[in-house]
Amino acid sequence: MEKILLAAHVAPTAANLQPVRLIVVQEEEGLNKIRKAANIYEAPLAIIICSEHIKAWTRPFDGKQTVDIDASILTDHMMIEATELGLGSVWVCYFKPDVIRQEFRLPDTLEPINILAIGYANGNPSDPERHQSQRIPFNELVH
Ligand SMILES: Cc1cc2nc3c(=O)[nH]c(=O)nc-3n(C[C@H](O)[C@H](O)[C@H](O)COP(=O)(O)O)c2cc1C
Repeated sequence: MEKILLAAHVAPTAANLQPVRLIVVQEEEGLNKIRKAANIYEAPLAIIICSEHIKAWTRPFDGKQTVDIDASILTDHMMIEATELGLGSVWVCYFKPDVIRQEFRLPDTLEPINILAIGYANGNPSDPERHQSQRIPFNELVH
């Protein structure tokens, strides 16, 4: 797990403001709290990736905040590291944010953005060639 968290630590954030905070949940009590808000597929480890709104960078031209982007870069770094370590992971956004906030007593400024469920995959890995059929055509993606 340390390697996964170190991968998050080196992730870039807008203007290096580092507004992201991680809640690492391994104990059954905490996992049960997450299960009230989300399906984490019986994973023994889940990381709640949160962003601190008051710390995040804001684009001056239109006021867009990069909280989701910063949090998602950390999430992706951890997902890639988990894969590198031979673990399975699921990126979860289908969760009840109010339940997470309440169960983990998050301050109002901290928004839960993603949950990363990590564990040993139960079953065969998906076909690595699936992207050929499960992604839009390359020329639709690239212009
Ligand atoms: C932002 C984001 C949110 C996601 N939320 C969920 C989720 O709540 N539950 C889930 O089972 N999978 C979730 N996924 C996984 C996607 O459904 C999955 O990556 C997508 O279907 C492509 O499948 P593949 O990654 O196996 O190619 C999410 C992925 C992303 C990037």
